[in-house]
Amino acid sequence: MPDALTIALSKGRILEQTLPLLAPLGIEPLEDPGKSRNLVLPTSHPDIRLIIVRATDVPTYVAHGGADLGVAGKDVLLEQGGHGLYEPIDLGIARCRLMVAGHPDVPLDGRRIRVATKFVNVTRRHFAAQGRQVDLIKLYGSMELAPLVGLADAIVDLVDTGNTLRANGLAPLESIADISSRLVVNKASMKLKHREIKPLLARISSVVAQQPDR
Ligand code: ATP
Ligand code: PRP
Repeated sequence: MPDALTIALSKGRILEQTLPLLAPLGIEPLEDPGKSRNLVLPTSHPDIRLIIVRATDVPTYVAHGGADLGVAGKDVLLEQGGHGLYEPIDLGIARCRLMVAGHPDVPLDGRRIRVATKFVNVTRRHFAAQGRQVDLIKLYGSMELAPLVGLADAIVDLVDTGNTLRANGLAPLESIADISSRLVVNKASMKLKHREIKPLLARISSVVAQQPDR
C-alpha cells in the first residue's frame, strides 16, 4: 500500500497558482477550495489530500509533520528560517520582490530610522549587513500606511506591480530579495515516504520546467 501524502497550501494566490501545477499529475481537489469551508480536501488522487492553512503557517505544519509537503513564499521562509524543512523546488509562482520603500523625497541615510514591517528578522539582517541600526516596528499588514501617518520612516514589504506603493505616495528604495514560492518537504517524510515523494518531486519539477516563463 502506498503511503498517503498531505500537502499544505494557503488560500489566495498560492492555491490558485499551485493547482495548475498539480492538475497535470492527476491531483485536483474534489471540492472547490475557494468555496468549501473544509480545511482538509480530498483530491482526485486517492493517496493525496490538501490541507488549507495560513500562508505564514505552512512551514510550521510541514516542519512538524502536520503535512508532508507544502508551498510557502520565500519571504516567509527567509523570515522564519526554514528550519526542519527541505526546499527542493522553486515553483516560480507568486513572484514579487521584498523591498525597502518610503517617501520618494525623504532620504533615509545619515540618521537612525524607524522601519515598519512584518518581516522583522529579514529587515534587521538587511540593515545590519549595511552596518545600520534601525528601530523596528512589527506590523501584521497594511505596512504602506505606516509612513503616511508618521508611524515609520520606511517599510519593508512585498512589491509586485508597485501599484500599492504608488497609490499611497511611496516608492521602492532598495531591493532585499527576489521572491517566489517554494515546495517544502518534511525531513522525516522525505526519508520514510521516499517511494511516494521522489517521483512526485520529479513530476512537479518537470511541470514547472514546462511553464512558459521559465
Ligand atoms: P497570511 O494570511 O499568513 O498573513 P498573506 O496574506 O501574506 O499570508 P498571501 O497574500 O496569499 O498571504 O501571500 C502569499 C505569498 O504570496 C507571500 O508569502 C508571497 O510570497 C507572495 N505574494 C504576496 N504578495 C504578492 C504580490 N503582490 N504579488 C505576487 N506574490 C505575492
Ligand atoms: C501584497 C503586499 C503589498 C502588495 C504589493 O499585499 O503586502 O501590499 O501585495 O503588490 P503590488 O506591488 O502589485 O501592489 P496583498 O497580499 O494584500 O496583495 P493583494 O492586494 O494583491 O492581495
